[in-house]
Amino acid sequence: MEDLNQRVVVITGAGNGIGAGLAHAFADQGAQLVLADLDASDMEKTRSELPAQTRTTLVPVDVSDPEAVSALAERAFEICGEVHVLCNNAGVGCSGLAWEQSLADWEWLLGVNLMGVVHGIHSFVPRMIAQGAPAHVVNTSSMMGLLAAAGLGAYAASKHAVVALSESLRMDLATHGADVSVSVLCPGPTNTRVYEERGRPRASKAADAARPERVAQVAQLRELMARSMSSRAVADCVVDAVRENRFYVFPAPEYVAGIEQRYQEIHQQVDARSEEGDS
Ligand SMILES: NC(=O)c1ccc[n+]([C@@H]2O[C@H](COP(=O)([O-])OP(=O)(O)OC[C@H]3O[C@@H](n4cnc5c(N)ncnc54)[C@H](O)[C@@H]3O)[C@@H](O)[C@H]2O)c1
Repeated sequence: MEDLNQRVVVITGAGNGIGAGLAHAFADQGAQLVLADLDASDMEKTRSELPAQTRTTLVPVDVSDPEAVSALAERAFEICGEVHVLCNNAGVGCSGLAWEQSLADWEWLLGVNLMGVVHGIHSFVPRMIAQGAPAHVVNTSSMMGLLAAAGLGAYAASKHAVVALSESLRMDLATHGADVSVSVLCPGPTNTRVYEERGRPRASKAADAARPERVAQVAQLRELMARSMSSRAVADCVVDAVRENRFYVFPAPEYVAGIEQRYQEIHQQVDARSEEGDS
């Protein structure tokens, strides 16, 4: 979709971080925006910083709630008539050992990061197909959608699911002959306040606050983020990918070497097995 001027762009998680960056990047292309987030005052802040001429609608939504996302789609199509770009971006993160992380945390992470994307696809894609005009879905995953790291089992599981879902969605839309493209955004560390864990179950947050090693980990993460790339730089990569119709969006290509190492290990183990079979 080369020209984004006057196109309608829906962005979830638009109150902060990468979602707010996306709002600015698409606004600079002349797009009309529908911003959605848990937090209405954060969305107001994003809106107040956009160019004055940007047509913007704010819709408070919890993406883990299918009815709320369905209401967001109703609202967006009712106000704007068509939706040309959907950014399923809202997401959350926290770390912990897979066997220690509470089930409430697992449900929260999967509910927002995976089911939030599923709800977006359910509520928007059938209408995007039916509208006839070209459309594009951008799902925010992470480099943790293609890699893994110690202490990030639940987060990485949710983000791997988003990559796989996006790859399948792209194939299904192509098979269906739909004029709907897909991208999957896999940022590396980005300078946001994701460590604030918005919406995390209170009991889990309180339990972590009482553990000095967890407090130290969050402080480390905070420091890493402060040194990382800006949300706006990530968002500019997304705009380029939508305009050039590219599927994989890697704003931090230095992490791609880690994916290659993973495949090398798979190949080595497959080769070792076949050599055992030969002898
Ligand atoms: N910051 C990073 O280093 C990084 C790296 C890779 C991927 N990501 C992904 O980027 C996306 C955006 O994260 P961010 O870093 O900008 O975080 P952020 O916390 O700065 O912004 C996320 C926004 O999503 C909103 N949100 C949280 N739960 C929600 C829900 N249930 N419904 C609706 N809105 C909700 C929050 O209110 C917040 O405004 C996430 O999917 C995250 O996993 C972030």
